[in-house]
Amino acid sequence: MNGPNLGFLGQRQPEIYGTLGMDALPDLVARLLGENARRIRLTEFQSNSEGALIDRLEEAWKERVEGIVLNAGAYTHTSLALADCLAWIKIPCVEVHLSNVHARSSHLRHTSLVAKHCLGAIAGFGVMSYALAVQALWQHLSQQ
Ligand code: DQA
Repeated sequence: MNGPNLGFLGQRQPEIYGTLGMDALPDLVARLLGENARRIRLTEFQSNSEGALIDRLEEAWKERVEGIVLNAGAYTHTSLALADCLAWIKIPCVEVHLSNVHARSSHLRHTSLVAKHCLGAIAGFGVMSYALAVQALWQHLSQQ
């Protein structure tokens, strides 16, 4: 799930966010998970709007989605509403970022309101961050 300004991955500031788009994800996941990749169904959602992201998360709860990989973009650092939603839907979630937010100059990017409601976070590996998050979720869910 991608938040604001993440609809043009590969084209938006590639020097920061990398040159790969979301279309690269299935291959990266297949490389990490091998045969198990066939046992998961990935769906993608992107919105620039905070409310639409919350609506989609609520939908995921209704659909009994098993796990979420979330790059909330700038809402990571600002959205109490998104954090409140993650707190109650309680779907295992991994926070991801394309860039290494902790190494970036704006201190605003060093805090995450969603982190508390996630299993963990992966940042700094471009689209590979999402694949690593899928792998982490897979391992988490397989141990349940
Ligand atoms: C981002 C980091 C955020 O600070 C920024 O607002 C983004 C992208 C990342 O993937 O590196 O839009 O979430």
